Amino acid sequence: MPIPAFLYGTAWKEDRTPALIELALRMGFRGIDTANQRRHYDEAGVGQGLAAAYRAGVATRADLFLQTKFTYRNGQDHRLPYDPAADLATQVAQSLASSLEHLGTDHVDSYVLHGPASSRGWTDADAEVWAAMVKERDAGRTRLLGVSNVGLWHLEQMLAAGAEAPAFVQNRCFARLGWDREIRAFCRDRTIVYQGFSLLTANPEVLRHRLVAGIAAHCRATPPQVVFRFAQAVGILPLTGTSDAEHMTQDLASRALSLSADEVRAIESLAG
Ligand SMILES: NC(=O)c1ccc[n+]([C@@H]2O[C@H](COP(=O)([O-])OP(=O)(O)OC[C@H]3O[C@@H](n4cnc5c(N)ncnc54)[C@H](OP(=O)(O)O)[C@@H]3O)[C@@H](O)[C@H]2O)c1
Repeated sequence: MPIPAFLYGTAWKEDRTPALIELALRMGFRGIDTANQRRHYDEAGVGQGLAAAYRAGVATRADLFLQTKFTYRNGQDHRLPYDPAADLATQVAQSLASSLEHLGTDHVDSYVLHGPASSRGWTDADAEVWAAMVKERDAGRTRLLGVSNVGLWHLEQMLAAGAEAPAFVQNRCFARLGWDREIRAFCRDRTIVYQGFSLLTANPEVLRHRLVAGIAAHCRATPPQVVFRFAQAVGILPLTGTSDAEHMTQDLASRALSLSADEVRAIESLAG
């Protein structure tokens, strides 16, 4: 399964998770992002939505790119997918085994460290978790690995410590940071795919901006569609977690918009 051009995000959907996953697949999404973190995601509900879509003949497992995450204890509530007394490598193995059960599959396509243990740097705990994730990949339980919520310093320290580079970096993408310009450049130089979330919610000033409104009018599109098309044009793999069928269609259709190189440059430097 090649990496799809858009990922459908499954956070904060609670009871609506199964129906929204099935709807997203019906509307054409083939990439799903989730996490074994019950506080924000209902991964078992994602699995129910996938099963319903398989039963209805909407898609098969082989058509899909499934991504989930390992989340440290401090990012979880009381509903843990592992024994908190176990060592970190065991927690990773238990969390992924639970994810595979939730998702009804024997492997995911991408397994992501939800966030490093410290905002200050890549710690021994991260190195231990990453080594356990590499072991899971080598055992065939995930095809690819990623890290999320990282600063440039995490990535630099991770690689300087000799760790294998991730296939993905997934970050909240702020326009005022040049759309995470430094990390995107780091990723580009190492053929790491940069996944951007909160492209709309982190950037209300962009959605309101005259320039974006003008481009949207000229393309007969909406400002969110322009943002998603811009993201793809600069090499960002976008996520959307829309709950609205029409927005699902619009988000996927944004791929067909044509932005000029000047328009892309102007949006890139709009806010930072
Ligand atoms: N790694 C992490 O720590 C992390 C953190 C946050 C999120 N994520 C992932 O990223 C996914 C996306 O999260 P997000 O933070 O980007 O927020 P989101 O849940 O995707 O919210 C996007 C907002 O934009 C609206 N929207 C989407 N398409 C639109 C359109 N075409 N026109 C107008 N409004 C539109 C949605 O409203 P409607 O529902 O009404 O369309 C919603 O209010 C999550 O589900 C999760 O999988 C990861």
